[in-house]
Amino acid sequence: MTDLHQEIKELKEAKNAVLLVHNYQVEEVQLAADYLGDSLDLSRTAAKVKHDMIVFAGVKFMAETAKILSPGKKVLLPRLDAGCPMADMIVVDELIELKEKHKNAKVVTYVNSSVEIKAESDVCCTSANAISVVKNIDADEIIFVPDQNLGMYVQKMVPEKKIIPYEGYCYVHNRIKREEIQEMKKHYPEAKVVVHPETRMEVIELADEVLSTNGMLTYVARSDAKEFIVGTEQGLLERMKREHPDKEFYPAFRPKICSNMKRTSLRDVYDSLKEEKYEIEIDPEIARRANKALEGMLKYV
Ligand code: 13P
Ligand code: SF4
Repeated sequence: MTDLHQEIKELKEAKNAVLLVHNYQVEEVQLAADYLGDSLDLSRTAAKVKHDMIVFAGVKFMAETAKILSPGKKVLLPRLDAGCPMADMIVVDELIELKEKHKNAKVVTYVNSSVEIKAESDVCCTSANAISVVKNIDADEIIFVPDQNLGMYVQKMVPEKKIIPYEGYCYVHNRIKREEIQEMKKHYPEAKVVVHPETRMEVIELADEVLSTNGMLTYVARSDAKEFIVGTEQGLLERMKREHPDKEFYPAFRPKICSNMKRTSLRDVYDSLKEEKYEIEIDPEIARRANKALEGMLKYV
């Protein structure tokens, strides 16, 4: 543990704060976490922890979700510029237009979205429970926003429902190409291919498993395989290597980096705790409506 890790620990104790960290964060931040996980897991944790303050090392929509699920707590995002470009791809007017066009459809919104979009939604989901949400929601037609790749994957897995996808995408996962997986398979024919459902269908079709980041961690821990080609952001591969030194993890050709996830340094976490910045604040009426969609999401595994 470095001096800065120790100082963060002391500040957390003094302020009764908890540090939630997403799997894509840089290693020094991962190592400071009280809870390290995927979006669903961290949302559940945010909703149940008893601390006065949550510091969220991730991107803005994650800290906003924590604030909505835990309105009585002070929620801090260490870097204001840590956003998710996909979350900003759809604006409210577009969603309202879709709702008017498909009056019988329900809106399932990926948690990687703005609070305003969540407020216009029936229920949210993450990559861990999107299939279960769509399967169980009381509607045959689903407007699915904003990630088209996740939407198309859900459509494949739940063919009995009609998905109306929006055309958003993640610039990190969408960059992974079929040829990259094929090339890696040539080098490592024994390796299992595990990918995130934000990847393209052409990549999903080559995968042994399609899982959220925590889902991938559970899979590699249980698998007898010794080698894995991992189609997601590099931060997760670093965690896998640290936790399974006896196994090999390869990126989909070149490592894929989410620059937004990588903005937060350990120093930013320290400054955030010390100066109590940057506090997440959400319009109460929007928060109330978004909370319904988020609470709904927590019912599904
Ligand atoms: P997970 O919920 O699977 O951790 O994914 C979050 C994310 O932002 C993927 O790009
Ligand atoms: Fe957003 Fe993609 Fe980064 Fe996840 S990896 S935070 S979806 S840009």
